Amino acid sequence: MAGRDFTPVDSPDTADLVILNTCHIREKAAEKVFSEVGRLRQLKDSRAKDGKSMYIAVAGCVAQAEGAEIVRRAPAVDMVFGPQTYHRLPDMIDRADAQQARGQTVRVLDTDFPAEDKFDHLPGKTGHKGATAFLTVQEGCDKFCTFCVVPYTRGSEVSRPEADIVQEAQRLVDGGVREITLLGQNVNAYHGAAQAGGTQSLAGLLYRLSEIEGLERLRYTTSHPRDMSDDLFEAHGALDTLMPYLHLPVQSGSDRILKAMNRRHTAEDYHRIIDRLRTKRPDIALSGDFIVGFPGETDADFEQTLELVRFVKYAQAYSFKYSPRPGTPASVIEEQVDEAVKTERLAALQALLNEQQYAFNQSVVGHTMRVLMEREGKSSAQLLGRSPYNQAVHVDFASLSGAETLDESATQPYTRHMGRLLDVEIVSAGPNSLRGRPVLTGTSF
Ligand code: 5AD
Ligand code: SF4
Repeated sequence: MAGRDFTPVDSPDTADLVILNTCHIREKAAEKVFSEVGRLRQLKDSRAKDGKSMYIAVAGCVAQAEGAEIVRRAPAVDMVFGPQTYHRLPDMIDRADAQQARGQTVRVLDTDFPAEDKFDHLPGKTGHKGATAFLTVQEGCDKFCTFCVVPYTRGSEVSRPEADIVQEAQRLVDGGVREITLLGQNVNAYHGAAQAGGTQSLAGLLYRLSEIEGLERLRYTTSHPRDMSDDLFEAHGALDTLMPYLHLPVQSGSDRILKAMNRRHTAEDYHRIIDRLRTKRPDIALSGDFIVGFPGETDADFEQTLELVRFVKYAQAYSFKYSPRPGTPASVIEEQVDEAVKTERLAALQALLNEQQYAFNQSVVGHTMRVLMEREGKSSAQLLGRSPYNQAVHVDFASLSGAETLDESATQPYTRHMGRLLDVEIVSAGPNSLRGRPVLTGTSF
């Protein structure tokens, strides 16, 4: 949109265009769209009184899955487009402008799965700000877990060519990015066209990106246990740039439920994967996704999930109550679990996961770690960064005093460290973040 003289504004009441980018994965996320549109409609009406217009667009997977329903239920919405067509936004604006000029009701709907590749039509992230960036390498999913809408809303697996990814990564690094997270719904199933011909794997891509000078850190998300290939385990042992952190959803610890979910792995398979990862990279921090209350889940099934969690010891995790999603096989299973039972199980699981996360955070107190400074913190003379294990770290520069403060640091603002990696001594840990102070040696400056 930059090419069309659109610039970001701080608040929707001054916007000519508001885009709600939506998630369809769980019911709760989808419901929010309609309440949010209701609020925006009031702004749109009050702007109209001043003779100004405002387009309201709904984008993303809710738009993809429920486009027609949105148009029917929310007349204030002018544009609806899915995750595969957002590169056409400038054309959609033209169409909306033309409809408005003719005095028609504005209605633009584009939820195609087009033949062209949107990445070829996006101008690239030349204006990216900050030290960290996401880079999409893969989209879609062919796994068809029975609870999940992703294979329907995002379509089947598609990998971008290695050359395009390397080029985009180089551009990001040239613009100051130090850490890139490779993104994909099923990222470790990546199989893009290799620069040297043939097919490249995710591990191969990680090795290739590690050669880019100035790119200090790599991460990838989200992975499926079935696609943890041998070369990926090797990469975790071999690549210093690959951070010791992996988000590897398991969903359940019960083989019966995993089968009903069509996960195509057992709890034992997952244990073996964790063991192999820890052999290659003993300090690796693990994260996961869990669903409680999948149809037919018994107390005994749920207990097996708790057991798996106790075995793995997660550094961080996401957990959700099962919510039936339209069109998915699990939504029509009759034995749905009571809401009260789901609530109880979620609370028990989250208590255990929180305990583990806190214990993991406590375990790094007293250690010195490289922290990438990402932005200013809330307190004065504080920067917020990430540890190699993906923990948020509040780094206090005000705590520096006397001998620890080199002459230079006394006269120069701490903000010059933004976007850099700094050695930080961790002084305390909370459930969700760490506090630390910079270890200022001559070489840090
Ligand atoms: N209900 C609850 N959680 C879900 N997820 C996906 N589909 C559902 C659903 N129907 C969760 C899974 C997945 C994460 C992104 O969202 O745990 O890994
Ligand atoms: Fe959904 Fe992930 Fe299963 Fe694909 S692998 S269907 S994205 S939960």
